[in-house]
Amino acid sequence: MEIEKPCILVIHGPNLNLLGKREPNVYGKLTLNEINDKLIAKAEKLGIRLEFLQSNYEGAIVDGIQQADGRFAGIVINAAAFTHYSIAIRDALAAVSVPAIEVHLSNIYKREQFRHHSVISAVVHGQISGFGADSYLLALEAIAGIIGGES
Ligand code: DQA
Repeated sequence: MEIEKPCILVIHGPNLNLLGKREPNVYGKLTLNEINDKLIAKAEKLGIRLEFLQSNYEGAIVDGIQQADGRFAGIVINAAAFTHYSIAIRDALAAVSVPAIEVHLSNIYKREQFRHHSVISAVVHGQISGFGADSYLLALEAIAGIIGGES
């Protein structure tokens, strides 16, 4: 009998659908689909499955997080601009018992002052910021470690 692999929900927030053509000097040249493909290849090696949610709408992200409870073993989230002000997304992450990792392509602490504060970082396991697409891959490794009981 094949054992079902744990599934991770990868959430991409607003404007990340434009990756590839959006400020490539800041966010890199890879499209969101290319990043997702890298994640799928990495997940295969880590023995986990992935589902993706990209939305430009705060409520859709809140719904996704709420529905993750009991369905997903972990969440990797780049809440994009919502990172800096969405108490609703923070509260949703705090409400579910699913470990989450916060991701940013850019180093938010090297950028404008308003990006230095994350309202979600206090309710996630940890934050990975500044490694481009590799931020997501590192987050996947981290979440695999967490659900595997390594940290
Ligand atoms: C971002 C950083 C945010 O400040 C910004 O609003 C984004 C992307 C990042 O991945 O570097 O949209 O989360």
